Amino acid sequence: MADNNEPTENHAASGDNSVPSENGSEISIDALARKVQESLSLAKKHKFWETQPVGQFKELGDTNLPEGSIEQPTPLSEVKQEPYNLPSPYEWITCDIDSEEVCTEVYNLLTNNYVEDDENMFRFNYTKEFLRWALRPPGYFRSWHIGVRVKSSKKLVAFITGVPARIRVRDTVVLMAEVNFLCVHKKLRSKRLAPVMIKEVTRRVHLENIWQAAYTAGVVLPTPITTCQYWHRSLNPKKLIDVGFSRLGARMTMSRTIKLYKLPDQTTTPGFRKMEPHDVPAVTRLLRTYLQQFVVAPDFDVDDVEHWLLPKEDVVDSFLVESPDSHEITDFCSFYTLPSSILGSQSHSVLKAAYSYYNVSTKTPLLQLMNDALIVAKKKEFDVFNALDVMHNEAFLKELKFGPGDGKLHYYLYNYRLKHVLRSSELGLVLL
Ligand SMILES: CC(C)(COP(=O)(O)OP(=O)(O)OC[C@H]1O[C@@H](n2cnc3c(N)ncnc32)[C@H](O)[C@@H]1OP(=O)(O)O)[C@@H](O)C(=O)NCCC(=O)NCCS
Repeated sequence: MADNNEPTENHAASGDNSVPSENGSEISIDALARKVQESLSLAKKHKFWETQPVGQFKELGDTNLPEGSIEQPTPLSEVKQEPYNLPSPYEWITCDIDSEEVCTEVYNLLTNNYVEDDENMFRFNYTKEFLRWALRPPGYFRSWHIGVRVKSSKKLVAFITGVPARIRVRDTVVLMAEVNFLCVHKKLRSKRLAPVMIKEVTRRVHLENIWQAAYTAGVVLPTPITTCQYWHRSLNPKKLIDVGFSRLGARMTMSRTIKLYKLPDQTTTPGFRKMEPHDVPAVTRLLRTYLQQFVVAPDFDVDDVEHWLLPKEDVVDSFLVESPDSHEITDFCSFYTLPSSILGSQSHSVLKAAYSYYNVSTKTPLLQLMNDALIVAKKKEFDVFNALDVMHNEAFLKELKFGPGDGKLHYYLYNYRLKHVLRSSELGLVLL
């Protein structure tokens, strides 16, 4: 399956199945195949996306085109007032995610039909608590939590969501929708339902007088603002190897591998502690200053920080460094909890993964800060710690024994053009 962005380890890169690339570094057969696939996908027709206000492949490299909105807003009275037509067996619903019953339906749809890795070994298993958190940030619109049901049976068969966010692009803060959780039941794939879902969420976003969106996908669509790679740090290497997430490296034994990834029991940075509610203003200041340096980043205020970064059990973890002398908050790190179902294993059913979220280092070296993050993640019994190569993450990935994953994550903006494709390190945005 090509439609995915579930990260798994780059099996080939750690083994024998690799050929040297031009610059002399090793590049796997899989990575090569992907490069070919990606250049083919640039030539591919996108019947839907070609009709949308997004950067088009043919515009790549044309720096005469202005940055900013592609289409101007229309008066709200001109926004289509009725939902788009669905094939007649189906109907739209607005999902009340506060309802335990609806949340369970959404959870079940995603648990059985959402993103898988290329080899269909793992599938994202967002928890209900996580979904409620992800879908109810400050100022959220219930009308942007959209489901499709079978009229006759009322079964939920498709889902798409948006949440509002202020995102800064260079010097301009733009109110956008972050669109996520697009899912069509496996039995209804390839029937062009996804474009209708995307048009409907867009219409409902327009009705709130919002004209831009940000989203990610594992597939190449017109046109990524940047392309990131996932890296994985084994915390429980034996389990990762047992379930086929990673492989024993060449000339490695299990006991040497376990030793390689061993972490101390205690964090090392003096003043490293869990974030608490009274830290919200200081963390907001720290994060706002830090995110200034990236081309595209969220414009977080205290309410956003309270929602997105205050620790929430089994959903999001945040730690900071409070200087033992001055009590100043100098550094910050966070990760969210996103388990995956393990599809074919006798011994394990869930892979517990932590995903690096926002990290800020001003006094503590980033490497040391993230090593402490790994130590707490290990203590919390995560099997793996994942991170994208965004922001300054490249500075610690190799050193802290992260390995490159297979597959890429592409970032997109809807109705907003950038003159140049960004380097992943110029991106200061992490979507869930
Ligand atoms: C993604 C998914 C909803 C697409 O549905 P589908 O039945 O495969 O495809 P449809 O026939 O309905 O629509 C195809 C169109 O949707 C586009 N599309 C496919 N995946 C997309 C994505 N992730 N984001 C945006 N558009 C996407 C295709 O490019 C195509 O448009 P094009 O002709 O302009 O290229 C479906 O495959 C799915 O639920 N996959 C598992 C979950 C998943 O990967 N979700 C997306 C997470 S980013």
